[in-house]
Amino acid sequence: MARIGSVAPFLAVVVVLGAVFVALDPFAMSPIAGVKDFKVLSVPQPSLEVLAAIPRDEKNILKGAEIVYGGQILGPESVLFDSQGRGPYSGVGDGRIVRWEGAKKGWVEFATVVSNRTEICNPTNPPSPNLKYEHLCGRPLGIRFNKAGELIICDAYFGLLKVGPEGGLAEVLTNEAEGQKFKFTNDLDIDDDGTIYFTDSSSRYPRSKFFASILEAEETGRFLKYDPKTKETTVLIKKLRFPNGVTFSKDHSFLIISETRLGRLIRYWVKGSKAGTWEHFVWLPGYPDNVRTTEEGNFWVALHCRRTLFDRFMNDYPALKQAFLKLPIKPTILYTLFSGKPHAAALKYSPEGKVLQVVEDQKDLKWPEVDLRGCVHQLKVEVSEL
Ligand SMILES: *[C@@H]1O[C@H](CO)[C@@H](O)[C@H](O)[C@H]1NC(C)=O
Repeated sequence: MARIGSVAPFLAVVVVLGAVFVALDPFAMSPIAGVKDFKVLSVPQPSLEVLAAIPRDEKNILKGAEIVYGGQILGPESVLFDSQGRGPYSGVGDGRIVRWEGAKKGWVEFATVVSNRTEICNPTNPPSPNLKYEHLCGRPLGIRFNKAGELIICDAYFGLLKVGPEGGLAEVLTNEAEGQKFKFTNDLDIDDDGTIYFTDSSSRYPRSKFFASILEAEETGRFLKYDPKTKETTVLIKKLRFPNGVTFSKDHSFLIISETRLGRLIRYWVKGSKAGTWEHFVWLPGYPDNVRTTEEGNFWVALHCRRTLFDRFMNDYPALKQAFLKLPIKPTILYTLFSGKPHAAALKYSPEGKVLQVVEDQKDLKWPEVDLRGCVHQLKVEVSEL
């Protein structure tokens, strides 16, 4: 007892000094050092019962998936074909929108979002992330063709853009609303009359700092529309937490939007008695990226990772999480704690919100080794440059 008694004051001093050191972070070793006004919010979550009721793909169907175009392009986000069946088209990490033109020609540049692409934008071989310059070169995310065959583009840095059917340099349609510049334009869909509905994932962080937005769980994302006739941009929903994918229902009466940080889908009504209002649609077992409508009118949503227990715990205790993030922990380790290991998964929902199908690769034997190699590498760079 006497020994403990004599060490206790010493221990107390060490603990206090340690706490002061971590709180002041004099060597900026914390992952959030240098992030201005970083403030963690608590995060609403589904009950464990709700999560347990979501089926799993015990057969790991995605393990049998074939990997196409591996290692040729970096970070294809939204993928589509044009009305003549050409493609796929995709926006990639070096700021270009590329089109597949067959085995002989490969991926060919279709469009760009900045006029002065200098050598700093050039893709590398093998492809590697260009986080340092993507705000200069562009980062096209969501893409869709309108009825006139023009390609509408959400570029993370340059806003909503349009390019003609033959491609080339895209022109900006809009890049701000209510006096607030878009910071992270992400995905879109187009109504029959040409109105474009789109997401701006954050008004606080650009895409290159997406992990800060995720850690903070901030709610500055917006859902908007752009009317090409009046050229007016309207904010439809505010205070979203990382709104991401956008897709119309088959009958165009509503849109489904994935809200990444909350791990859910929401529904925005365009027609009928609820027009102009939105509601919760479904909780997801993980954090979603894009969502797309099938020919039958169902919705496929892709998850980039499942919920972790660590994240669940921290979501309930923002003050503890804020203190925890002051510790000098490597961003890649943080990423693993909050997001778990890479886990390929996609779920199909009916328009009523019923799960119809789940495809996964729970063991992650194939994806991290092959397809996610580029992605995991990119994540490492992104989180370490937070
Ligand atoms: C394009 O020009 C602008 C304005 O001069 C400059 O700030 C930017 O760095 C240039 N972009 C590239 C990719 O060199």
